[in-house]
Amino acid sequence: MGRNVKLGLWTAVAVAGVLYVGGEWTSLQAAESPAAPVAGAQELPDGVTPAMVEAGESIYTGAGGCMTCHGVEGAGTPIGPGLADGEWLHGDGSYDFLVEIIDTGVMQPMQFGVPMLPKGGTQISDDDVRAVAAYVWTLSR
Ligand code: HEC
Repeated sequence: MGRNVKLGLWTAVAVAGVLYVGGEWTSLQAAESPAAPVAGAQELPDGVTPAMVEAGESIYTGAGGCMTCHGVEGAGTPIGPGLADGEWLHGDGSYDFLVEIIDTGVMQPMQFGVPMLPKGGTQISDDDVRAVAAYVWTLSR
């Protein structure tokens, strides 16, 4: 259900982006033109696809074990910081930063008692790291 809500939000953002063209709200018909999905895709960082974000969500909640410490949709828990508030302890929140920190982990946490092992202590692949980073990137945007 959370995912459907999110998808709905993204669609709304994409539609708003298409509607608000040249400083003027255009007719709703414009949003139904083939340009709408492209507008959504352009909001992602270079090299990141919607499919990666979707795969990343499964890794976050499943094989990556991220949700155990970072909570549902990055809300945070007593053993891991929130990832959805746009505030970052260890970097600028860019996609490259996220890939790097998920790959290496945080052996010396600034605020939390237990370290994050590389890849959350799991054996997920480099592709999985990039996908889960893509999902995390969307959480605060
Ligand atoms: C054992 C708990 C645990 C697991 C599992 C875990 N993390 Fe973490 N994560 C942490 C802690 C603790 C920190 C560092 C917090 C601090 O510095 O006080 C952290 C930091 C981060 C940061 C940097 C946050 C910032 O504010 O700079 C990101 C991004 C992140 N984790 C993503 C992930 C992802 C994605 C996964 C799954 C692959 C994952 N984590 C798995 C506990 C965990």
